[in-house]
Amino acid sequence: MENLKNKTAVITGGNSGIGYAAAKQLKEQGVNVIITGRRKEAIEKAALDLGVTGITADQSNISDIEKLAEQVKADFGSVDILFINAGIAGLGTIEQTTEELYDNIMNVNLKGAFFTLSKFIPILKDGASVVFLSSNTASMPGPGSSVYSASKTALNSVMKSAAVELAPRKIRVNSVSPGPTQTEVMKKVGLDESTVKSIMDVVVEKVPLKQMGKAEDVAKMVSHLSSDAAVFITGADFIMDGGMILV
Ligand SMILES: NC(=O)c1ccc[n+]([C@@H]2O[C@H](COP(=O)([O-])OP(=O)(O)OC[C@H]3O[C@@H](n4cnc5c(N)ncnc54)[C@H](OP(=O)(O)O)[C@@H]3O)[C@@H](O)[C@H]2O)c1
Repeated sequence: MENLKNKTAVITGGNSGIGYAAAKQLKEQGVNVIITGRRKEAIEKAALDLGVTGITADQSNISDIEKLAEQVKADFGSVDILFINAGIAGLGTIEQTTEELYDNIMNVNLKGAFFTLSKFIPILKDGASVVFLSSNTASMPGPGSSVYSASKTALNSVMKSAAVELAPRKIRVNSVSPGPTQTEVMKKVGLDESTVKSIMDVVVEKVPLKQMGKAEDVAKMVSHLSSDAAVFITGADFIMDGGMILV
């Protein structure tokens, strides 16, 4: 396997979807895992189910990020794996997009991700792995998701700067960019199940492999990037979208 035993991992947004799957896989490999999320009950339930540490912290709130880093430092000392995964989707044309929607998306996906890395740098171990959860839409912006796509494109740029800044400490920084993946993210936008299903049916038609991605597959990539097998990989973005970006 990936030889991650006894490492410490912080995963933002670990109570559902990709973050939950990553927490499960890392825990199974002997990693001490800390997950975060906004909803107290959801994070407590996920932490209990997974047998990991759960901390309620809003990634869009800098004071929450600082408190999170302080608590992790006090309880675990340092961090080997930082998976900055928490993010929200948001739909709307540029004409329809309100300042509130713009700020909500940017504050979680870009500003919050940026300051999570920033505030954790002092407690990252030399040789640590940082992975940002981006999206294939960072490289293929389309109608109706301009703010979301922009948040992820900017995140990829931050990832590359961070890879160079942190290289002297042998800290590697990469991103994973899934295409449509089966999680709760679209339901949280406020769409009902049948609307999500019809959107996804249309999206899947655009995927050459004709299927949705699985959270577990993205989690495997995160494990791999966090392991010694990826020791020479930094500043790279891994698109996992069944070939969608090609057509
Ligand atoms: N699913 C896809 O098709 C897809 C494709 C490309 C990229 N992504 C990206 O993948 C990442 C994970 O999403 P997912 O698909 O796994 O969706 P998900 O099931 O909705 O999971 C998102 C996680 O992030 C947490 N989160 C959201 N806002 C937060 C905040 N302000 N502070 C702390 N935690 C927060 C959620 O916790 P709460 O519910 O408690 O807020 C939840 O644990 C996101 O960055 C998303 O943009 C997803």
